[in-house]
Parts: sequence; structure tokens; C-alpha cells
Amino acid sequence: MKALEGIKILDFTHVQSGPTCTQLLGWFGADVIKVERPGVGDATRKQLVDVEGADSLYFTMLNHNKRSLTLNTKHETGKEVLERLIKVCDVLVENFAPGALDRMGFPWERVQEINPRMIMASVKGFGPGPYEDCKVYENVAQCAGGAASTTGFRDGPPLVTGAQIGDSGTGLHLCLGIVTALFQRERSGRGQRILAPMQDGVLNLCRVKLRDQQRLERGPLTEYSQYGEGVPFGEATPRAGNDSGGGQPGRILKCRGWESDPNAYTYFITQAAVWTQICEVIGKPEWKEDSDFATPQARLPRLNTVFEAIEQWTMTKTKFEIMDICNPLNIPVGPILSMKELAEEPSLRETGTVVEVDHPERGQYLTVGCPIKMSDSPVDVVRSPLLGEHTDEILCEVLGYDEQQIAGMREAGAV
Ligand code: COA
Repeated sequence: MKALEGIKILDFTHVQSGPTCTQLLGWFGADVIKVERPGVGDATRKQLVDVEGADSLYFTMLNHNKRSLTLNTKHETGKEVLERLIKVCDVLVENFAPGALDRMGFPWERVQEINPRMIMASVKGFGPGPYEDCKVYENVAQCAGGAASTTGFRDGPPLVTGAQIGDSGTGLHLCLGIVTALFQRERSGRGQRILAPMQDGVLNLCRVKLRDQQRLERGPLTEYSQYGEGVPFGEATPRAGNDSGGGQPGRILKCRGWESDPNAYTYFITQAAVWTQICEVIGKPEWKEDSDFATPQARLPRLNTVFEAIEQWTMTKTKFEIMDICNPLNIPVGPILSMKELAEEPSLRETGTVVEVDHPERGQYLTVGCPIKMSDSPVDVVRSPLLGEHTDEILCEVLGYDEQQIAGMREAGAV
């Protein structure tokens, strides 16, 4: 038995944000019925194609554990099928451009009328306000949600991060909204509408930067490198390079081999509680008693000196040797792991976080499995569906159409 067994998801999602959400619901055991336009499907099927004729990795890696139903929801018969699906499903998830579902003839009021227990969950770029009608992709959300203005180095332009916090991050937010609404429905008997705007999701993940914005009004941000460098602060939270976002100063430092390996670096945190161990390890025992370095407060204006000394030491070791030396001393360090290293990491394979999947068109490929581990709801990663692979199965099993009816719908271009 899986956590969401018996829950039917009417999955109208496409690209990344919505599919991230419904993939999680599938991993938790829900029956995810992905509705796609006949002959076209999710646009990502044919984006960044690496194996001619096969669904792209962009699509396959975001659509595991789903069934694909092709349905033209602008066709009269297609609309009838959709209405019947709304009646029998528990959750409708969508991330169309604003207004697309209304134009299709299925606004929230209509959905609620058809099925009062329905939970209708949407990702949009922006919530109500001046930009609510805009189409939005990942990097737009990173820029509009405060991530870009606070990422990068002070003297460089704003940067977007590699982590897809706008798309996948918002998909996660939406998923949490859905399972919470399912829980509430147990008691209320009613469905509800859920909106997860990408701007809001990114801002939620940039919470500490809004914290710093308010602290800035009361004085300089002493843990930012620019404080020690004597560079005045402006009006808004600045880009802080690799300075730690928390109360413990940290930096990315070179390790042995950095000259030729772009990932021979480690993150090093000078946590106050282990300062004496740090002084011993890096060969600066005198700093333990030196009033310029002995306390966190004294070190703040001298962080460049501190990290330059630590880097002199880290440059003599590999990032893995540094892990081995520092962790037993409770000194937190983070090796900069490349995607190649992560793909090959045996422990991630053992826990099912990195999984090899077999696909009829592309053969074996690697993917990220479910990152949430539940002791009573195990996850089996099932390959993504081919376009329309389960159309007949769903129309017959879920809605009770017979073969002849399905053939008629196909001829009419409804499925
Ligand atoms: N049958 C018939 N028509 C269908 C259909 C189906 N099964 N599935 C989709 N369509 C139609 C929609 O009704 C819409 O038609 P309309 O414009 O006439 O109303 C059309 O296909 C295109 O949908 P849209 O969502 O506008 O796609 P797009 O490619 O133009 O825009 C996004 C893509 C991602 C920019 C946009 O969907 C969006 O902003 N989504 C919300 C934010 C979001 O999730 N962004 C991140 C994506 S990772």
C-alpha cells in the first residue's frame, strides 16, 4: 500500500513546474492521468532531444509514474470526456498560461459544480496583481522572486542559480498544498482551489534575504564579506558571493587540483563552536588566544584573512581528504560535487535517489528518484509514458467506454 493509493490525479501539467508536482504524487502512489493534446503532447517531449525519435530526457525525467491520455479538450466530445474525468478524479493539477482553463470552458466554478470534492491546483507565474496574466518560465521567476538580485558577486551582474527553484521549487510547494487539501477534505468533505505562484515560491525560498533586507535598515550586515572589506552597503540586500546565508561565516575555497579541475573546491564553514579545532587543523594555533581572532565578533572584520589562511591549508588537500579530516572534528565542510560525481555516487544509487530506468525508445537512462523517503510508502520509479500510451486503457477502465466508442472518438479527432 502506498500513501496516496486510490487518489486519482487529472494531470493537465506541462513543461517542468507542474510535472514535478504530479511526479511526486505518482511516487506517493496516486494514479496520475496525464492529459495531452493528440499528436502533440507536452512540448518538452521534443525539447533538447538527444536521441532521435525518442522522448527527451527533459520529458522522461519529469514524468515517471504517470499514464498518458491524449484528449482534445477543445473538441466537443473531448469536453464530454473531460467532464467525466472531472467527476471521477480527486485532484486537477494544471500550469497552463493564465486563463487557458477558462477559455477551455472549465473555470473553477464549473469544475466545482461538476465535482464539489475536486481539488483544483494551479501553478502560475504571479499571483493576483499587475503581472497575473503573464506567462512565466524558470528564470523569470528567479528574477522576479528575489533570487537573482541576491545571487552572484557584488561587483558582477545578477545571476540565476542552477537549481530550478522557480519550476521544481514551485512544484514542491503545490504538491504540499495538494496533500494538505486532501487531508482537509477528509474532514470537510469539500474540495478547494490551490494557487502556487512561482514568484511567491521563489521569495519563500529567499526568506533569509528578506530577513537581511530588514536587518540592513538597522546597520551593516556584518557577516557579509563586504563589511570586512569596508565597502558601504546600499539600500537593498546585496549579492553576497559565496558568503554563508546563516550566522556562521563560510566560503568556497580552492582544494588540491583546482588549477585543472573546475570542481576541486570545498565549502568551509567557520562555525564558532569549533574554532579551536579549525586553528589546529590549519596550523594557526596562535589564533586561539589572539584577541583579533579568538571570538566570532573579532573575526568578522578579518574574514578575508581568516579564509585566506584556511585556503592555504585546503589547497594542500583534495576535497574528499578535507571531508575525512574535518568531519570527525565536527567542522562542517561541503565538497563541490560535479554532476558526474553525483551520477556515479554509489550511496545515492543505493537509496534510490539516483536511478537507472529502461525506456523502449531510448534504452537505459539515469534519473533522480524520489528525494523524500517514507518508511511505509516505498517508491518504484516507473518510466514515463509514451504519448497516448494509456488512452484506450483509461477511457475503458476509468470511464467505461467500449472499443467502438473509443474508435469513433479517435476518428473524430477527440482523442
Ligand atoms: N487539448 C486542446 N488544447 C490544449 C490541450 C489539449 N489537451 N492542452 C493544452 N491546450 C491548449 C491550451 O488550452 C492553450 O490554448 P489557448 O491559448 O487557446 O487558451 C494552449 O494549448 C497553450 O497553453 P499555454 O499554457 O498557453 O502554453 P504556452 O506554451 O504558450 O506557455 C507557459 C507555456 C509555461 C509559459 C505557460 O503555460 C505558463 O505561463 N504557465 C504558468 C506558469 C508555469 O508553470 N511556468 C513554468 C513552466 S515550467
